[in-house]
Amino acid sequence: MFRNVEYYHGDPIYSLFEEFEKDPRTEKVSLSVGVYCNEGGSIPYMKAVQRAEHEISQDFGPRPYLPMEGMHAFSVAAQELIFGNYHNNTAGDRVVTVQTVGATGAVRVGADFLKHNLNCNNVWISDFTWETHDDIFKASGYQVNRYPYYDVHTGGVNFNALIDCLEKLPTHSVVVLHACAHNPTGAELSNTEWDTLSALVAKRGLIPFLDMAYQGFSKSLENDAYALRALLNAGASFLVANSFSKNFSLYGERVGNLSIVCPSAAQTTNVLGQLKAVARRTYSSPPTHGARIIEKVLTTPALRMIWEQELDSMRARIQSMRTGLYERLADKVGHDRVAYLPVQSGMFSFTGLNAEQIKWLRNEKAIYLVGSGRICLAGLTPTNLDYVAESMTLAMGLGFA
Ligand code: LMR
Repeated sequence: MFRNVEYYHGDPIYSLFEEFEKDPRTEKVSLSVGVYCNEGGSIPYMKAVQRAEHEISQDFGPRPYLPMEGMHAFSVAAQELIFGNYHNNTAGDRVVTVQTVGATGAVRVGADFLKHNLNCNNVWISDFTWETHDDIFKASGYQVNRYPYYDVHTGGVNFNALIDCLEKLPTHSVVVLHACAHNPTGAELSNTEWDTLSALVAKRGLIPFLDMAYQGFSKSLENDAYALRALLNAGASFLVANSFSKNFSLYGERVGNLSIVCPSAAQTTNVLGQLKAVARRTYSSPPTHGARIIEKVLTTPALRMIWEQELDSMRARIQSMRTGLYERLADKVGHDRVAYLPVQSGMFSFTGLNAEQIKWLRNEKAIYLVGSGRICLAGLTPTNLDYVAESMTLAMGLGFA
């Protein structure tokens, strides 16, 4: 028994972080996992979260199971955040939202829901994408296909190729789209492009599945959710997985939601029922603590104001690190080789460094980047910026074949 269990080669992001943690070198820099660090290089304990946690600690008590769909008040607050003003009109009573175990859990619940209830077998994910999309949909029994997305020449999106591909997909194909701060490339659609894409997917009867793990990290809380507005305006039905790991700095609490925008209110009861069934057979019901904190912050005006300000300054810090890295590299290797940095946004960019260069950075300089060449700019600090820029310059100069 178990003799034929295959060796697990690890996760490209999590396993790398485990290696980083074990690395004894003091100069080490983690630019791998998508986690926001402050100027001191630590994960922040946000003030709004501290205050909410203090307030709810006054009424800590027994912890019954949450319902399969999670905490209702939390999901309503999350719905209001992600759908914004549309919550009360265009979206309103046709949206079903359940609490999930992070956005990863939401993607899995959504994938299983579509597979079992709509008999979906094919999913299209962006080329490139977050590696786990591939694994989740395969584990749910899908054939995974890729649509063209990243344009290596501009560092942006190859929008024409993307649209060409979507135009040819069979009806009811599931199309996974990053709502904002594309992971891993940082290349985003403009609002006008979202409008065009949304009209197309609605016309073609495709099933958009938005992954929104970084709301607030690209332009603003409101604009980062523009994809949802565009799809609603186009009259599309779609799914959204959203995460609070990053924008509340509550990674270990695993709080997210899956929302499904149905064609009308008539489908919501059965859709909710089937989502509950998926939750029950997967993890029964989600955990309580993180959802209570987030609900408290989102629904208490004074806390919400503090949270939004904190999030704004996190975004501004990443942007200043992006600019700082760009200026240092452009100075040393020329604008053309790093022109992608200023056009991309969010926590990530695609450096174009090859596997040998990435290995060299890790072995020789203790700088950790994901094997794809993705860099997490939120790991840069005023203290390590020069070191990283100099090391990347050296790595580019090595130009391994
Ligand atoms: C990442 O892409 O690094 C983050 O979203 C963390 C994860 O779950 O992979």
